[in-house]
Amino acid sequence: MNNIVVFASGTGTNFQAIIDAIERGEIVDTRICGLIAGKPGIQAIERAHRNSIPVHIIEKSQHPDSEDFSNRLLETLEYLEPDLIVLAGYLQKIPPKIIEVYEGRIINIHPSLLPKYGGEGFYGHHVHKAVLDNDEAMTGCTVHYVTEEYDQGAILQQRQVPVHPDDTPESLSKRVSREEHKVLPQVIENLLHNKN
Ligand code: GRF
Repeated sequence: MNNIVVFASGTGTNFQAIIDAIERGEIVDTRICGLIAGKPGIQAIERAHRNSIPVHIIEKSQHPDSEDFSNRLLETLEYLEPDLIVLAGYLQKIPPKIIEVYEGRIINIHPSLLPKYGGEGFYGHHVHKAVLDNDEAMTGCTVHYVTEEYDQGAILQQRQVPVHPDDTPESLSKRVSREEHKVLPQVIENLLHNKN
């Protein structure tokens, strides 16, 4: 049985897509052994509760000392023993120590065709607004390994979606999200079961 730990800071629709894919048997022999929530009160926590997934809330603001924050994450992960860590809308930077210990076992989903529209400040609405401001014909999403720099690790999978002339950041976000919810579970299944 593979253990996945999901990190989330918001609505958790990608977290839900992983839950649903396990439920449907599209990710086999796997359970989500914990949600690490970046803050309390987020919708991702409700989703975890509804699915009996243990929640660990670890707030950066409660751990101003970065080593303290890193140790808190590390001890939680050591307890959860993940085979794979999935960042699904997690807004904090992952401390170097965690990346060192779990190298090659941390992935992230990003709502653009990286390397375009990646890096600090490019999250959520900001990504889609920049895509529209630059009159891009296509956008999409990327699943990639996590390294110490935002959005720079090796790319595992990308999916394209068209940008329509009347799109708003919200309409574009919805189209990209639909693709995210398909690609993320597929990448997880492939990684856990060594498929290409
Ligand atoms: C997604 O667009 C993902 O690409 C980005 O954060 C968003 C999370 O959305 N990293 P949700 O919380 O999964 O709904």
